[in-house]
Amino acid sequence: TPLKNIRNFSIVAHIDHGKSTLADRLIQVTGGLTVREMKEQVLDSMELERERGITIKAQTVRLKYEAKDGETYILNLIDTPGHVDFTYEVSRSLYACEGALLVVDASQGVEAQTLANVYQAIDVDLEIVPVLNKIDLPAADPDRVKAQIEDVIGIDASDAIEISAKTGMGVPDVLEAIIARLPAPKGDETAPLKALLVDSWYDPYLGVVVLVRIYDGVMKKGMRIRMMGAKATYTLEQVGVSTPKKTPVDELGPGEIGYFTASIKEVAETAVGDTITEEKRPCEKALPGFKPSVPVVFCGIFPVDAADFEDLREAMGRLRLNDSSFEYEMETSAALGFGFRCGFLGLLHLEIIRERLEREFNLDLITTAPSVVYDIFLTDGEKIELHNPADMPDPVRIDHIEEPWIKATIMAPDEYLGGILKLCEERRGVQKDLTYAGSRAMVVYELPLNEVVFDFYDRLKSISKGYASFDYQLIDHRAESLVKMQILVNEEPVDALSIIVHRDKAEARGRAMCEKLKDLIPRHQFKIPVQAAIGGRVIARETIAALRKDVTAKCYGGDATRKRKLLEKQKEGKKKMRQFGRVEIPQEAFIKALKID
Ligand code: GTP
Repeated sequence: TPLKNIRNFSIVAHIDHGKSTLADRLIQVTGGLTVREMKEQVLDSMELERERGITIKAQTVRLKYEAKDGETYILNLIDTPGHVDFTYEVSRSLYACEGALLVVDASQGVEAQTLANVYQAIDVDLEIVPVLNKIDLPAADPDRVKAQIEDVIGIDASDAIEISAKTGMGVPDVLEAIIARLPAPKGDETAPLKALLVDSWYDPYLGVVVLVRIYDGVMKKGMRIRMMGAKATYTLEQVGVSTPKKTPVDELGPGEIGYFTASIKEVAETAVGDTITEEKRPCEKALPGFKPSVPVVFCGIFPVDAADFEDLREAMGRLRLNDSSFEYEMETSAALGFGFRCGFLGLLHLEIIRERLEREFNLDLITTAPSVVYDIFLTDGEKIELHNPADMPDPVRIDHIEEPWIKATIMAPDEYLGGILKLCEERRGVQKDLTYAGSRAMVVYELPLNEVVFDFYDRLKSISKGYASFDYQLIDHRAESLVKMQILVNEEPVDALSIIVHRDKAEARGRAMCEKLKDLIPRHQFKIPVQAAIGGRVIARETIAALRKDVTAKCYGGDATRKRKLLEKQKEGKKKMRQFGRVEIPQEAFIKALKID
């Protein structure tokens, strides 16, 4: 295909504004799939993604479109994940395109992730075509939303396309706009091969599949390629395009987007953002590098039943095959036994992995409090990256501690603003900006990530009745007065409940945790003290009163069935408990104790 007949584009949008619906429509209109195949949302293929309505892995689909000018075009749609945790995947998917459709729900308007995503697209110089979706809704107000796009984002929205991805109305105009308004790719077919590694995943039939964007030269079956960053060479086995069915082709030329396989064993061998060239005729300069995505949120994951440890290890290995941004290593906890310390790109990423472990692998798990990575500067000049509060060095060895800070953008109807500002202030936030676009407020705060990883997002949603949207990016590390707080149950420290907290908030936090645990830990035959302590100093204390009778005591007489049922019920309850010294702590306590309300 000549370059002038190729268009590479992405769709950027806030979650739920209709990106997947529009993508499906474009596929359908260009004849990519039958209506029956359409029943499944094509691009969001994983079960969990479908259920949560979010896109995790970037996918791509090649569409053939006969335009009004009589020419046939190849349109490559690269799907980008919509969520803040996956901004890295968004940025390199965008890099492989020349343009983007900016989809905004005409009844909702611009949201925090619309901003984050469109700014990334502008950063890599993409041509942006604004598309107002859901104009079939009575609440749609395209004029207001156009004005908002111009005010808040600062791009011209006068020729925004008004559509309903649901009914199909306006969708042909989108296709024509892609041809007319997005630039064609550039490239030199005769130059040495230069391609961008956009994504990779593990396919049960094909093994590791790599998605590439070709800039110069051609890629064909049998060729020896070199990954310039990883310094590894492979022989191409299959080269193809995704329609979205994988279809082998003879070669991929400049401007094209396609996939290859090359007997690569692990996804981890394929660094996203790497430049691929031909071994015997390499290109001179690699494409600009990408920062690798590093996990920023860590937590411990333990099996409730110690016998499940090997199954958990295997399940983690399987998930990691397809997600190299998820990290894990073995960890032992005095409270929870053998498990893993895991690293994630963010909270949503954590939740997705945890849910998949429980659901797809049928494991009962205990997840400990999410923690960020602290930089600990020791008095002897050494620096430690702390992933687990339990590993905190002795305070006398510590010179100072730095923690990661983020810049958060929150958008919400102004009636919820008061509650949102209060929440940010409680979480040690520093207000940076506050502006209005119509009746929606946009506030920008700098916050310690530590205060956000736990339940900030849940609280924000409940304060704003679901109307607030949120996005963040890491900005820097700052020295703060941080201490490790331990929880002691029956005089014994429970390592899985240790947290790192700002000194000024330690007491209130400790008190709240003790109160929570008092309700979460069932009564035993003896009295149980629950304490919070910093170093050796107890800062809060509660006592769980002793239980007088055992559960079956009230079944006097000989009702054996009733008694057995009760015992069974008790046993079932126990499955979700963890024995700790003489005390049983329920699984849910490890997370619930940390919720702040
Ligand atoms: P993520 O995958 O989470 O980023 O969401 P998305 O942007 O892909 O949104 P999706 O396409 O899943 O649409 C979200 C919801 O809006 C779904 O319930 C759609 O049926 C609905 N929707 C999408 N387009 C339209 C439209 O034009 N009109 C109406 N009324 N509803 C729409």
